Parts: sequence; C-alpha cells; structure tokens
Amino acid sequence: MKQTTLILVKPDGVRRGLVGQILARIEAKGYTIEDVRMLTATEQQLAAHYRELVDKPFYPGIVEYMTSGPIIAALVSGHRVIEGVRSLSGATDPTTAAPGTIRGDFACDTGTDSIENLIHSSDSVQSAEHETSVWF
Ligand code: TYD
Repeated sequence: MKQTTLILVKPDGVRRGLVGQILARIEAKGYTIEDVRMLTATEQQLAAHYRELVDKPFYPGIVEYMTSGPIIAALVSGHRVIEGVRSLSGATDPTTAAPGTIRGDFACDTGTDSIENLIHSSDSVQSAEHETSVWF
C-alpha cells in the first residue's frame, strides 16, 4: 500500500533550525522525500488546509502562528507512510506527546493561543490528496 503524505514543518520548526532534524527522522525511518518547497502560507491556503477547523475558537491563533514565518511543505512516500509519519510526529499536545516523537522531543507548550507543535502530517488518504493540492 504505497502512499504519499503531505507534511509541513511549521514556522517554529524553521525558526528554530529544526528542518534538517525533522526531515532526517522521516528519512531515517525509511520514507522517501519526493518534493520539498519553502513558502509563507497565505490565509487562503490555511483556510483550505484547516477547513475542518476554521470555525474553532483557536483558528485565529492558528493563522497568526502559521503566517509568522516561512514553512516547509514536503511530499513523503512509502508503505503506510500516512500512519507512519503521524506516529513519528506524536500527539497534538507537545506536553503529552511521547518522548521519542518529533513533538515529544522538540516541542514545548508556551501557552500561546494556538498549539505550536512543529509539524503537520496528513491523517488520511483523502486529507493527503486535498492538502497536496493546497501546497503544491
Ligand atoms: P488537529 O488536526 O486536531 O491535530 P494534529 O495536528 O495533531 O493532526 O489540529 C490541527 C492543529 O490545530 C494542531 O496541530 C494545533 C492546532 N490546535 C490548537 O491550536 N488547539 C487545539 O485545541 C487543537 C485541537 C488544535
């Protein structure tokens, strides 16, 4: 079941110089980086990407966070890669994300309106297709 997933290294990851370490973990696991680009997210792209969250109270915080600097978008392929990269990323909340995961090892809740957790990865085949069309 070869799949492709969409990942974003969020602005905190770029700002803190963690792009290499995050991509290295994904490559070390055995997945293949198929494409990478750096960009600054627009509000339109974020509304499409986070279409299920636009009505949430924390959505304005997401926009502020995600437009605070450049991000890296990458396409990553492999057998069951969607599940695999979610597992490497760890839980949404950095405080409880397991040590050994990207969020567990590198992210720390600083009390901002939006959770800053370094990485996004698609959660289903449908999301991966939609999110790929947003960023590539
Ligand atoms: P979600 O898709 O639930 O999490 P994940 O990124 O682990 O798939 O939420 C998307 C992003 O929205 C999440 O990474 C951080 C932000 N967020 C908040 O800021 N506050 C919240 O209460 C939730 C649930 C998410």
